[in-house]
Amino acid sequence: MIDGQRFARLVTDAVVRRPALWRLLRRPLRKMFDGLAPTWETRIGPHHLWALDLALEDLPAPGRVLDLGTGTGVVALALAERYPEAEVVGIDLSPGMIEEARRKLPPELAGRVRFEVGDASALDCTDDEFEVVVLSNMIPFYDELARIVASGGTLALSFSRGSETPIYVAPEPLRRELGRRGFAEFAEFSAPPATALRARKG
Ligand SMILES: C[S@@+](CC[C@H](N)C(=O)[O-])C[C@H]1O[C@@H](n2cnc3c(N)ncnc32)[C@H](O)[C@@H]1O
Repeated sequence: MIDGQRFARLVTDAVVRRPALWRLLRRPLRKMFDGLAPTWETRIGPHHLWALDLALEDLPAPGRVLDLGTGTGVVALALAERYPEAEVVGIDLSPGMIEEARRKLPPELAGRVRFEVGDASALDCTDDEFEVVVLSNMIPFYDELARIVASGGTLALSFSRGSETPIYVAPEPLRRELGRRGFAEFAEFSAPPATALRARKG
């Protein structure tokens, strides 16, 4: 792993264990992703969405969908294509990433896809707002996830290179922490090298 990838893993491990550390780590992580934004998509291979596609395969069509930690919006646009009736929101900490996502947004999707700067640890979203929430290679902030996913809604977390993904959380802690917060019906998906975990909010 190069330095940036090591740093992303370090931040992920620290924050999922002790969310209070995010206050110290937010600024350097945002700076790193701002720097990566212009070339971010050179890092995305065809495998990126494989496991997420499996996780979403048999879901009913949602009305409101969130891609949290959207980066340049690749996953948000794929979600808009999968759910042609849905309103899709992509949120990211990095203004540089959001600038790229807005620039790449096809005009025909502008009416129902939008990108906003925001922090997953304290979202400007209402309770139960989204029927589907997706995190692709993104740090989970469990309390906020439990708040914003609608009752009966779906949360999917995917890791494009499985445990080799710099921002990676293993299924066991994900199940444990989400289970404590009312998520159930866990399912795991693998499409090597990608993996995903899906849960339903009770
Ligand atoms: C590894 S990139 C993944 C981007 C995109 N999901 C993808 O799969 O291409 C992680 C993204 O999460 C964003 N991020 C990290 N922490 C965040 C937070 N607390 N709130 C919102 N976005 C965050 C970063 O700025 C970065 O764009």
